[in-house]
Amino acid sequence: MEYKNILTQREAEILTITINREEKLNALNKETLAEIKAAFEAAFEDKEVKGIILTGSGGKAFVAGADISEFKNISVEEGKAFAKNGQDIFNMIEKGPKPVIAAVNGFALGGGCELAMACHIRVASDNAKFGQPEVNLGLIPGYGGTQRLVQLIGKGKAMELLMTAEMIDAEQALDLGLVNYVTTPEGLLEKAKELLYIISTKSPVAIKEIIRCVDAYYTDGENGFEVEINQFGNCFDTEDFREGTTAFLEKRKANFTGR
Ligand code: COA
Repeated sequence: MEYKNILTQREAEILTITINREEKLNALNKETLAEIKAAFEAAFEDKEVKGIILTGSGGKAFVAGADISEFKNISVEEGKAFAKNGQDIFNMIEKGPKPVIAAVNGFALGGGCELAMACHIRVASDNAKFGQPEVNLGLIPGYGGTQRLVQLIGKGKAMELLMTAEMIDAEQALDLGLVNYVTTPEGLLEKAKELLYIISTKSPVAIKEIIRCVDAYYTDGENGFEVEINQFGNCFDTEDFREGTTAFLEKRKANFTGR
């Protein structure tokens, strides 16, 4: 697929998806969201890709939110469909079979903060700023922000950020557990790649199951402990398990196939 609003670049087993609307601070319009969806679907299918980095173009913004110019004259039903569409795409990223790291290179506001939170790990450059400023617009987050912010930083702090619309910087985000690492702007992608290179040496089957089990903790109607028992058992019938244990006993590095 030809993309207009994103760039994709593969280096070894890592795919970098860059949201590329720099003049609009990478705001998510409908078209960009659809391209992000397509790029993730393709990456999940692609056997050569073991991990994905999501970032924004330019040095100023990761994503400055949903594109506010698309909010005009939206009905209640269209508003619900708007939120549902974004949530479906972000859920797909979060529940997908491969690790996704957000490399947050500037403003991550509104839908941008929500998109970063849907990724499995966040690395931020020291100029990054996070916030949910929707209440300034007479709105609330619609792409999962009221839920994932609570999951990541706890109810009290999440309430404060959601109600005050205050932005926090990268160091504050680190203190709150919203990001895993803070780097210089130049070191941002390197840090994300370093993490994915480590993960890409592990069993892809096991990584997929880790995502599945951790996700179960947050999914209504699922018992995470039961999911873990089930997925643990299933690992024993995989080539990765046979290879991992054989390699250990033969004192060599495992060569995982993801089967
Ligand atoms: N939707 C649509 N366009 C956006 C946008 C968004 N969420 N965020 C920024 N832009 C556009 C601006 O309209 C401007 O476009 P223009 O040059 O055609 O006028 C361009 O991006 C640059 O933004 P600007 O506001 O001039 O940059 P700034 O450095 O003065 O301020 C921000 C940066 C991030 C503080 C400011 O752009 C902002 O508050 N954006 C909206 C954040 C938001 O409320 N997000 C949640 C949406 S639900």
